[in-house]
Amino acid sequence: MAISFSSTFAKNIMDGEMRAAVSETVQALAEACKQISHICARGPLEHGLGAETGAANTDGDAQKALDVRSDEIITAALETAPVAYYASEEQDDIVTLDASKPLAVASDPLDGSSNIDTNVSIGTIFSIFEAKDDARSSFLRLGSEQICGGFFVYGPQTSLVITTGAGTQTYVLDPDSGVFSLAIADMKIVPASTEYAINASNHHHWDKPIRAYIEDCLLGASGPLGEKYNMRWVGSLVADANRILSRGGIFMYPGDSRDGYAHGRLRLLYEAAPVAFVIEQAGGKATDGTGRILDISLDTLHQRVPLVFGSKTPVQMVGDYHNKKQDIL
Ligand code: F6P
Repeated sequence: MAISFSSTFAKNIMDGEMRAAVSETVQALAEACKQISHICARGPLEHGLGAETGAANTDGDAQKALDVRSDEIITAALETAPVAYYASEEQDDIVTLDASKPLAVASDPLDGSSNIDTNVSIGTIFSIFEAKDDARSSFLRLGSEQICGGFFVYGPQTSLVITTGAGTQTYVLDPDSGVFSLAIADMKIVPASTEYAINASNHHHWDKPIRAYIEDCLLGASGPLGEKYNMRWVGSLVADANRILSRGGIFMYPGDSRDGYAHGRLRLLYEAAPVAFVIEQAGGKATDGTGRILDISLDTLHQRVPLVFGSKTPVQMVGDYHNKKQDIL
């Protein structure tokens, strides 16, 4: 047993067989992520985790040795779980494990690959759906159809942030017992915050609404927002999301004018949608700038989406900057 689930885990999933299948699958993912966490903790002792394999993933990012190893570990774990289909950032196509099983799992097996060699938090993101009759329709659907979503963080602590649609919980891996134990039962994101996260080096590529919002943040107390702002950017989505869950703030990876970045950098299926699910369940908000992430229907497996999430007030404010675009232009 990799996780000691509280008796309330997944209590909102009414169908008992489905609830058991989800629990079993999360146990399998937790077992896999304990292995990945162990490899991360050994870092350079494992030799070449951050080395490029010479291949690129579906999105053209250079694949690192740990990306590939993590994908293999997750695949092996899901083969032991009630999972029909697996969609991974590291695989062009959906992998059919056993079409007779009830679930479909999507994952970014190793999020934050550029931080592998830097001893900075990285993670694994996952999303669980009820499987449909065929592989593609099991994933090409609304994010709001997820029955479970979350992410593991490999940092000073190894943790699991998870939701089944009845609040967001954090489990922490106890290094003494080797078991994930419930640490925070019902996470709540503060509604307002003056901390923002964005890769500011892309400033000159952003659309006007994002540029106007950040420029107003930079003007601080004497600007139109009337407050001093602070900036943080880890460069691992899981770490930025975990910080925002802990103390509020806003994360933005908007679309920009670089080649291939019209819809930002992050993938809807296995990055934006599961993060949006845990954020909303913790009382926050997640949009593509204006519309709710979980209301977007996936058209292609590896589709990108602009992502803005965090405390309700600043996320709403970014929406307002988009809606008053005409005044800004
Ligand atoms: O695609 C994954 C990712 O590494 C995220 O974890 C992170 O938020 C983002 O990309 C970092 O992008 P950039 O390298 O542009 O800062």
